[in-house]
Amino acid sequence: MTAENAKHPDFLETTRASYDAIAPAYTEAFSDWPADSNALDRSLVAAFAELARELAPAPVADIGSGPGSITAHLHALGLPVFGVDISPRMVALARRAHPELRFHVGSMTSLDLPDETLGGIIALYSIIHVPDDHLLTTFAEFHRVLRPGAPLLLAFQSGDTEDHLHLTERFGREIALDYYWRTTDTVTDTLTKAGLQLQARILREPQDEEKRPRAFVLARRSETR
Ligand SMILES: C[S@@+](CC[C@H](N)C(=O)[O-])C[C@H]1O[C@@H](n2cnc3c(N)ncnc32)[C@H](O)[C@@H]1O
Repeated sequence: MTAENAKHPDFLETTRASYDAIAPAYTEAFSDWPADSNALDRSLVAAFAELARELAPAPVADIGSGPGSITAHLHALGLPVFGVDISPRMVALARRAHPELRFHVGSMTSLDLPDETLGGIIALYSIIHVPDDHLLTTFAEFHRVLRPGAPLLLAFQSGDTEDHLHLTERFGREIALDYYWRTTDTVTDTLTKAGLQLQARILREPQDEEKRPRAFVLARRSETR
């Protein structure tokens, strides 16, 4: 174990076990995207899809795909998309709901994909479970697997690092799940360090039951190697 991952040695295992425990309830609660989504969020996903289509037929990955409803939406928008999620149970439920699509078990911190193969990556509300000291490695992984010019869209709840949340119960199930809140500056600085080019950043005010502003960051891998 390196000094780098000594701080959060088990975060992948605890995240996987937690989402496995809540996968059916989470899917039941959050699989109505895009019907349940905000018009602005949908328009950003549509912009991402348009940019990714320029690199078609290169495949697009929805990383931290959860119930798979955003993967299915991107498929409906004409993208050759597949999902990746750390939770085998979440992947099983996504496959059951969307049998025409591919979903794989995997972690964004170490993707089982060759270099420069993807025409885009979308990761909505999934980097929130990656500790700060693993964020640069994760973005370097995104950079490695993206083709030159390919877009990356991230969404996350914006907040201060000190407000880090550790949940031991959700949907009545015992879990050990960490949520890392960050500012857009922290995320965009780290993306830049990983070699990605920033395209846009948007901070949307919380709506309805949302507790924190929603940040969207669009970046891309440079055209030149
Ligand atoms: C809050 S849910 C978001 C699901 C979906 N993207 C959405 O917006 O509805 C976070 C998802 O990310 C997955 N996840 C967390 N850490 C991950 C990792 N290191 N690699 C891949 N998936 C991960 C979880 O299993 C979960 O399905």
